[in-house]
Amino acid sequence: MVCGMNDKTQVVWHEHSVDRSAREQLNGHRGCVVWFTGLSGSGKSTIANVVDQRLAQLGKHSFLLDGDNVRHGLNASVDMLGDHGAAYAERFGLGFSAEDRTENIRRIGCVAELFSAAGVITLSAFVSPFRNDRDTVRQRVEATGGAGSFVEVFVDTPLDVCESRDPKGLYQQARAGKIKNFTGISDPYEPPEHPEVHLAAGDATPDALADQVLQYLLQVTALPSS
Ligand code: ADX
Repeated sequence: MVCGMNDKTQVVWHEHSVDRSAREQLNGHRGCVVWFTGLSGSGKSTIANVVDQRLAQLGKHSFLLDGDNVRHGLNASVDMLGDHGAAYAERFGLGFSAEDRTENIRRIGCVAELFSAAGVITLSAFVSPFRNDRDTVRQRVEATGGAGSFVEVFVDTPLDVCESRDPKGLYQQARAGKIKNFTGISDPYEPPEHPEVHLAAGDATPDALADQVLQYLLQVTALPSS
């Protein structure tokens, strides 16, 4: 974030005494955002979870922001916010329209940016179907973290494989027309054009796929030797 005043709101950005590079020195590695994207059931959460576990074993500071979990809190649905009154719930609750998905990714992008500025290797696992939304997060993260601070990981699992897994039975409901705007069935998925890591994830194990991500991360998060 650029230091200064936002002309429209008179909100002023403050620089903090402990800056990003001091936090990275304390942690012993760079912070970054590792953005997993792919269809529902592609394996994003599973692979990201293995990467998170491996990073912890190596003594690295990491955290996993997971789509389903974040939609229970920060990005709760209209129904979940019902206790606050209908108008409030309608205004702030998120579903799966194109606009709501954009807002979902915008909010989580801001959170991921904050975590990465704290020097954390921040893993995020969201369908994030729209290229423009992902690119907007990339621009924001790279503006503060520099080159290498945003790592897009395309979990490229064919639709028929995701559908055959159908761990939550959602594809079946989408095919039956019970869930509208379901990514891959009745809503688009725009694959990344130049992901930093492209996982052919249809027939490999989560461990093997996590290894590929880990090898990349260990390079980009290394601090320059003094
Ligand atoms: S995103 O499109 O806004 O990035 P997000 O990753 O938060 O989606 O949530 C996706 C998860 O919500 C899926 O894994 C699935 O379990 C569930 N889901 C419910 N409805 C839909 C839908 N219409 N499209 C995609 N996923 C859905």
